[in-house]
Amino acid sequence: MSDARRTVTLMSGDGIGPEVMEATRAILEAARCPLDYEYQEAGAGASSRFGTNLPDVTVESCLRNGVGLKGPTATGIGGGQQSANVALRKRLDLYASLRPVKSIPGVKTRYEDVDLVVVRENTEDLYAGLEHIVVPGVVESLKIITEKASTRICRFAFEYARARGRKKVSAVHKANIMKLSDGLFLDCFRAVSREFPDIQGEEVIVDALCMQLVRWPEKFDVMVMENLYGDIVSDLCAGLVGGLGLVPGANLGEKTAVFEAVHGTAPDIAGSGLANPTALLMSAVMMLDYLKLTEHSRRIEQALLAVYAEGKVKTKDLGGSAKTTDFTRAVIDAMK
Ligand code: NAI
Repeated sequence: MSDARRTVTLMSGDGIGPEVMEATRAILEAARCPLDYEYQEAGAGASSRFGTNLPDVTVESCLRNGVGLKGPTATGIGGGQQSANVALRKRLDLYASLRPVKSIPGVKTRYEDVDLVVVRENTEDLYAGLEHIVVPGVVESLKIITEKASTRICRFAFEYARARGRKKVSAVHKANIMKLSDGLFLDCFRAVSREFPDIQGEEVIVDALCMQLVRWPEKFDVMVMENLYGDIVSDLCAGLVGGLGLVPGANLGEKTAVFEAVHGTAPDIAGSGLANPTALLMSAVMMLDYLKLTEHSRRIEQALLAVYAEGKVKTKDLGGSAKTTDFTRAVIDAMK
């Protein structure tokens, strides 16, 4: 375990963001993690103060500290401004999105032993935001797929699989229809797969994957895919283990990493104290592992799992009546 203190950039974000961030920070502090915190703004809240949803000071802080923890940020539908998430991933070159999805004992769902990892390319695809009106009534949206980014994300997925002792990486695609773009992604996957003979590489068409995931989630292990498929498949996977309130995520680059939950700002429950902080807390656990603070990460994770296993304190999304603060207190008590 490293004893050097590290500074983390905290971006609370919008909606339930500040509520789940406060809960997570309280637990990190109760676990005596050797961290200092630098709050910076991102999202709709930042727009009103800075005129942009991603101020330069926030980006600079992430670059300086090398690690950030982020709550969800609101993005308007339509309109001109790019999402703060997309902008942050691009500006910090956080090319890999890593979303482990694992059943939590005590959380009742249709499946008991889900253990999947979604690896999503974070910088291109339809998320490049290149859209224009060709003539009124006709819009063109450009899907960008490059050999460089596809090879990089596929290699990330195989390296992750090898480091974690996982056996299989599935490339998720739609190359039967998008023969050039998804075809290129698949070519890159095949080339990288040959460098990892110890790990099985398989190819699955995205629609078939969705059907199979809800029927036989145990068939899959690590899955690697382009940006848009990754967005959709990771929410589907969250549903397999109890919903968006539970699933953590990491956005990783060569030098910088930003950890964030998969869920959004939950406007329907924002401000009511009902948010489940598990997803952001588990993202913070991933962050502690990344910082090699594994003793602290295990302590927090074990406390969280103990609260779920006991089953007395549950937030509303999981059929309970506990408030965010009750849940936070229960996790802190379980660490004593
Ligand atoms: P959402 O994830 O905010 O909400 C979907 C449903 O899940 C809602 O019923 C909500 O109450 C529930 N939920 C989500 N997180 C929860 C939690 N921690 N505890 C309990 N219940 C939870 O998705 P939605 O409504 O599509 O998006 C709302 C806003 O969030 C949009 O502006 C969207 O752009 C943004 N968003 C931001 C993301 C990010 O910053 N990483 C990711 C996804 C959406």
